[in-house]
Amino acid sequence: MQVRIYPTKQDVAAKFSTFLADLVKSTKILNIALSGGSTPKIVFDYLAENYADLDWSHVNFYWGDERCVLPTDSESNYKMTVKHLLSKIEIPSENIFRIQGENDPEKEAIRYSAVLEKELPSEFKIPQFDLVILGMGDDGHTASIFPHEIELWDSNENCVVAVHPDSGQKRVSITGKIINNAEKVAFLVTGASKAEKVQEIIKKTGNFKEYPATLVKPTSGKLIWFLDKDAAKNIR
Ligand code: 6PG
Repeated sequence: MQVRIYPTKQDVAAKFSTFLADLVKSTKILNIALSGGSTPKIVFDYLAENYADLDWSHVNFYWGDERCVLPTDSESNYKMTVKHLLSKIEIPSENIFRIQGENDPEKEAIRYSAVLEKELPSEFKIPQFDLVILGMGDDGHTASIFPHEIELWDSNENCVVAVHPDSGQKRVSITGKIINNAEKVAFLVTGASKAEKVQEIIKKTGNFKEYPATLVKPTSGKLIWFLDKDAAKNIR
């Protein structure tokens, strides 16, 4: 596990964007699972601003989770990604594998699980992403696996239907089986509201065992935390 700490969330976005751009330049085919959230949004803006001219034609974008809403809904991770990145770079539409939030959630979890089986190379007979990008909620959730249903992490399925604990909104999420089989995992976590959970998870203290983010341990060993100073203030 690597922990990289930068002064501000803008610095996190710049440094992670450089990390991602280097991967894009150095890899023949790149299969990436994207995340929703405020930090990825800043990353997408930075990529659109500084790396629009990169050759994105060999990059395939998937999602680690999606809200069960229309792709035109303000809640849609896909919509956010189109607005902040995909509408600003040249990338073939066939390289975009969105979770279809408008579908019946259970059916979509099955459909997307099959997409991962079909489209991704496999390692240990499990679909493997080159990179999974994750955020972490204030409650320690990641992707859309929440503490109140942490058992979903260990599902045998590639994707499951999860429920947001406060809003009751249904989500389709990849599971620990997929996340921990990724070649690389990048955690993008910024803001003072994350500091307590970051400390518990990285130091293995307090209620760390209750947080799905604690369970992110890629078999490859290549987990990189990209933190700003606020999120890292209890581990410096
Ligand atoms: C989502 C994200 C979710 C997000 C965390 C952190 O669909 O909302 O996948 O897991 O990464 O909630 O979000 P922030 O970066 O905005 O704190």
